[in-house]
Amino acid sequence: MKHVYIETLGCQMNKSDTERIYSILSYFDYEKTEDPKNADFLIVNTCSIRQLSEEKAFSRLGVWGKWKKDKPNLKIALCGCLAQHTDEDLLKRFPYLDLVFGTQNIYELPKLLKEEKRIMAVRKKDYVPEENVGFKREKSVNAWIPIIEGCNNFCTYCIVPFTRGRERSRAPEIIINEAKQIIKEGFKEITLLGQNVDSYGKDLKDKPTLACLLREINKLEGKFRIRFVTSYPTDITDELIETVKNSDKVCKYFHIPAQSGNSEILKKMNRKYTREQYADIVRKIRREIEDVTITSDFIVGFPSETEEQFQDTLSLIDEYELDYSNIASYSPRPHTVAAKMTKDFIDEKIKDARFQKLNDKVKEMHLKSNKKFVGKSMEVLIEDNKGDVMKGRTGNNKIVHFKSDKHKIGDFVTVKIESASTWHLRGKIE
Ligand code: SAH
Ligand code: SF4
Ligand code: F3S
Repeated sequence: MKHVYIETLGCQMNKSDTERIYSILSYFDYEKTEDPKNADFLIVNTCSIRQLSEEKAFSRLGVWGKWKKDKPNLKIALCGCLAQHTDEDLLKRFPYLDLVFGTQNIYELPKLLKEEKRIMAVRKKDYVPEENVGFKREKSVNAWIPIIEGCNNFCTYCIVPFTRGRERSRAPEIIINEAKQIIKEGFKEITLLGQNVDSYGKDLKDKPTLACLLREINKLEGKFRIRFVTSYPTDITDELIETVKNSDKVCKYFHIPAQSGNSEILKKMNRKYTREQYADIVRKIRREIEDVTITSDFIVGFPSETEEQFQDTLSLIDEYELDYSNIASYSPRPHTVAAKMTKDFIDEKIKDARFQKLNDKVKEMHLKSNKKFVGKSMEVLIEDNKGDVMKGRTGNNKIVHFKSDKHKIGDFVTVKIESASTWHLRGKIE
């Protein structure tokens, strides 16, 4: 048995790809190891969303490259989003790299592994993978199912359309079969994944919707939860809201990145909604679904953003009580329109200051949101434990800590919430 170690950077789509890679390699006598020093094959699955994400991958390669001196048979590969978008010959730049493969070449791995020479395999044409490739998931509480890959939106700051190609939805029957299998294997939560998950089905002949998929999976027997990420604001339909409201297994949780609270900046970002339209969607969801959690992503310091426009982001979070938000400082990316707006770039110090202010606001809102649940009884799915301290998650995505010596990972329990802090809730089993 040989050992493989994969370092995964970036989003859940990459984490899901990593699972697929481990699964494919397991058919070729590679066993997963948690210790890179113990590996015969090292892979870095890269993210390109910000410059910093790419630098992380390069620094990892630098460390691993040195190990080759003592271990000449060590194989090193780079895959993922950086591999997919770059035209640079990475094999030239990193002489110790043996293999580079793109996001759309994962299924070619068996063939690539047989190659004697160093190879850079990146498919430039969109590819829908063969559906019946055997896929072993690692035992865990949650299982991901990618349902749509790629993006057609071309937000002016974003590299994803260049790393993941155009939107390609997988057939509903295949997804539902995968869900059945996952439940049979004992997983307690299914997360449907897509860069714009609510855009699902628009490219398929019968135009199935995400709502339709959720209803079908909701009908399957067993005790489990269904989640979906990430939603593009204007693809959230009334049908989707109704379905989330009325499907007992679907979590009352939406992740809907706004990116900015200012309509002019949104327009420059090529987002297809205004502040008001975004706010309407949030209001509608809150009106329909009790105790729903709505989270978001924001970018600070997009080219030309003024202090006033930045204040609109703070006020959006405040006014519509967004429960939590991921924030990022704008980073110019190759191929993108905004990267050419160099005259309007915002000074790093100003970006840092805005990031800090936004971070404080996000933390304040998260605490406020968590406090709303003190005194309530919530169903928690246990994901982890340290001794008798259990850590789990509610359907609406709140992290809960409580004590128990009777329960284990994967159990559903009802917990009475007693206190709230910025990052989690604490409670007692009822
Ligand atoms: N499809 C999702 C977002 C996927 S990318 C959507 O449309 O909302 C994940 C997050 O990375 C984005 O929400 C954005 O906040 C951040 N991001 C993307 N490009 C960025 C860039 N160039 N600089 C900083 N943050 C960026
Ligand atoms: Fe990037 Fe925009 Fe596509 Fe989201 S919708 S992945 S931010 S281009
Ligand atoms: Fe990064 Fe690619 Fe995901 S760029 S955020 S790993 S789609």
